[in-house]
Amino acid sequence: MLTQDDIKQKLGIFAADFIKQDMFIGLGTGSTVYYLLRELGKRKKDGLHFTAVCTSVQTQNILKEEDIAFVTLDDVEKLQLAIDGADEVDINGNLIKGGGGALLQEKIVESNADELIIIVDEKKNVETLGAFPLPVEVIRFGWKQVQQKIENRYNIKVALRTKDGKPFITDHQHFILDCYFNSIPNPAQLNTDLHLLPGVVETGLFTGMATQIVTGYSNGNIAVRDL
Ligand code: 5RP
Repeated sequence: MLTQDDIKQKLGIFAADFIKQDMFIGLGTGSTVYYLLRELGKRKKDGLHFTAVCTSVQTQNILKEEDIAFVTLDDVEKLQLAIDGADEVDINGNLIKGGGGALLQEKIVESNADELIIIVDEKKNVETLGAFPLPVEVIRFGWKQVQQKIENRYNIKVALRTKDGKPFITDHQHFILDCYFNSIPNPAQLNTDLHLLPGVVETGLFTGMATQIVTGYSNGNIAVRDL
């Protein structure tokens, strides 16, 4: 039986095979993608060349350690592929992302990629999204009003994300509200509705974006689901 970390490592190495010579790629954020980035460092030394756009400062920092150059999204016409993790994946391939707080740049980068491959361990596959609290990135000004509006409209708990006793601040200097929906039967509609609230910058609902879900199992198997 593999540990969760072993599964993530296996997924990272497996996903590196999707990246071919001279591709333009978007690189996600998180502890699963971490292993992909380390593997890309090795492959770069063996001659693999690609142009990377990062989804977070965290990912940029790992690429610097691996001596892999990166550019910004404005420097490329389009991306052929993006690879990222997720916090939940439903049966239709809709995602909750943003557990690591990088949802805004992830969504911008990944919506500009022809393909989006999601790498997750088996525990993240669910029938309906929502057990994982939905991250919603908000402007700092007036965040409490947005929190109250979401709480009242959906009758749920909404918590300001904190780190070391202070509000967590995203790469783009915003706050994150973690919304305890429990069940999100219509993620596309909820994404649209939340976007209508003034102060909401982005939601962690990635609907209709993933093109492949790669799932790692504790028995060592890896399954690829095309969407
Ligand atoms: C960061 C994300 C991550 O992809 C998501 O949280 C999964 O991370 P991990 O691979 O560490 O479980 O959306 O904003």
